[in-house]
Amino acid sequence: MSILITGGAGYIGSHTVVELLKKNFEVIVVDDFSNSKHEVLNRIKKITGKSFTFYEETLLNKEGLENIFKENNIEAVIHFAGYKAVGESVEKPLKYYRNNIIGTITLMELMNEYAVKNMVFSSSATVYGMNNVVPFKETMPLSTTNPYGTTKMFIEQILQDQSIADKDWSTALLRYFNPIGAHESGLIGEDPSEVPNNLMPYLTQVAVGKRAKLSVFGDTYKTPDGTGVRDYIHVVDLAKGHIQALEKVLHSTGIEAYNLGTGKGTSVLDLVRTFEKENGVDIPYEIVEPRAGDIASSYADVSKAKEELNWETKLTIDDMVRDSWNWQKNNPNGYE
Ligand code: WQD
Repeated sequence: MSILITGGAGYIGSHTVVELLKKNFEVIVVDDFSNSKHEVLNRIKKITGKSFTFYEETLLNKEGLENIFKENNIEAVIHFAGYKAVGESVEKPLKYYRNNIIGTITLMELMNEYAVKNMVFSSSATVYGMNNVVPFKETMPLSTTNPYGTTKMFIEQILQDQSIADKDWSTALLRYFNPIGAHESGLIGEDPSEVPNNLMPYLTQVAVGKRAKLSVFGDTYKTPDGTGVRDYIHVVDLAKGHIQALEKVLHSTGIEAYNLGTGKGTSVLDLVRTFEKENGVDIPYEIVEPRAGDIASSYADVSKAKEELNWETKLTIDDMVRDSWNWQKNNPNGYE
């Protein structure tokens, strides 16, 4: 029996494939390389010494995707594939709704046709919106402020409705907080195809000399030092959370959401200073205007994942900044 990983060549997907192979799962990866590079596949094999099946395909091609179900004995799906740039989603909403939502519906229709009813879905803390108070709990009302976040909220709803329609479905909705860091080997890591939207990849590109300085988006928030507070989680801890969620869905039915975070908040300037101290690298920065749509604080209540998935984070902010730098300094141009 195999596990199908959509978007398995991506940042979180590739780290999860490494953990699955280490646990001796049979793995099939499907990826259209819209936000990833073929080289990742070689790096995964180098890290694990194991092989896996790969298909270059988009979820929007039902015929091509059906081939994967025909040719393999799939037991569960871990679904990462989707566009994820908040800013681009505001400019091109239809591109995001088509790719993320229609792609997921196509995948789910084939899962039903081939009686594959175990799903781990890559959701996001962005679904907690602007009106909840930290720490965010899974029971809180959801709302979104951009089409990217809305696709995540809609797909959660679609999976909820499918679970009501067919009691045999078993689903885990994983709400990621802020994934950063990289595998300790420095062979895989975050490699944005454009100018990085997210803090850590921009910061490491400043550190490696690709960018002149970091823009800190505002220092007048109601936070200890005025800069934005986020729950940064090491991508390897996050990947291990997927293994725990997969085990859960393989041995139960129904649908549950889980926060995957550390439960601790770190400000932008805290992260910058920790990076500088741990790596001995100066990060020039300038305080600029806040970014539209940003909230002051976001961090998780992590009790549900601890109780129900027997999972909690082990790696620290020091580990995260060290591993992010180790990846970037060994791969100044990413996977190019
Ligand atoms: C973190 C903090 C910024 C960049 C988003 C999505 C979420 C997920 C992760 C995809 C904030 C500040 C950032 C910079 C800065 N995306 N910042 N200068 O916005 O919490 O979450 O990315 O899965 O769904 O919403 O992450 O890394 O963009 O920002 O000062 O150049 O860093 O204001 O406080 P965010 P981020």
